Amino acid sequence: MQVYLNGQWLDGDSACVSVLDRGFLFGDGVYEVIPVYGGYAFRLQAHLNRLQRSLHETRIPEPHDREGWQAIVDGLIERFGADGDASVYLQVTRGVAQRDHAFPAEARPTVFGMINPLHPVDEAVLEQGVAAIVREDIRWHRCDIKSISLLGNVLLRQEAVEAGAAEAILIRDGLVTEGAASNVFVVKSGEIITPPTDECLLGGITRELVLELARFHGLAVREAPIRELFLRNADEIWLTSSTKEILPVTRLDGKPVGEGVPGPVWHTMRELYVRCKERLRRGDKICY
Ligand code: PDD
Repeated sequence: MQVYLNGQWLDGDSACVSVLDRGFLFGDGVYEVIPVYGGYAFRLQAHLNRLQRSLHETRIPEPHDREGWQAIVDGLIERFGADGDASVYLQVTRGVAQRDHAFPAEARPTVFGMINPLHPVDEAVLEQGVAAIVREDIRWHRCDIKSISLLGNVLLRQEAVEAGAAEAILIRDGLVTEGAASNVFVVKSGEIITPPTDECLLGGITRELVLELARFHGLAVREAPIRELFLRNADEIWLTSSTKEILPVTRLDGKPVGEGVPGPVWHTMRELYVRCKERLRRGDKICY
């Protein structure tokens, strides 16, 4: 599959960036992951808004306007074809320059785009739910930026995998922030709760959609801080992301969450989300 690199469409196996690229040397860059259903990029404008914000916060010059990004995403989708679901990955680094921590005087951002098949989470996994572990949030204090510097996230996710779990749910100052690569929701007494966005967590696009869907359909929902004990006593726990959608967590640190099976509120939300996807696949502009 061809990839996009700095204005060119290249063979994915042979596309190269310099060893002096600041993404390689410093993790000095930002990225986006956008799900594509039936050839339609889901919530593209929200993803591009977030990319623009990440660029602004990291003071990386914006390499493209909205039409430019749209053309790259369209080019990737065209190469993939409309059959099957996919995820578009966009990355911008500060560019190539002699190694120096401070910003280089002259560097053009490196822009990279690729598209990969997006495999739906197995129905059997959804029926059972997944396991998660709880860990201290060891990451930096600007997790609202979708930075490619993901060492903390990588180490935490690996800990989860080695514990036989799908995700690490992170705690900072006694409060839930998010997962290593997902946002966290809990359900308690029928109410859906997720931590409010601040600099300690990423404003997930899926998180936003779940909030919108819940509000639109009149479900009880609230953005509020979640204490660790509240998480451990939750009736339901969900993880949300563009690639995993809405995953029910049924075991937390080896103990069952609620009844130990995906809960009724998750089933409702999952149905609403799937309906959204189906509408998008048909080319509907409105998803609910
Ligand atoms: N990650 N929080 C973190 C730390 C994430 O890495 C992600 C997604 C999310 C969910 O955001 P969204 O709903 O916009 O995907 C929250 C992507 C999928 C990744 O790194 O592959």
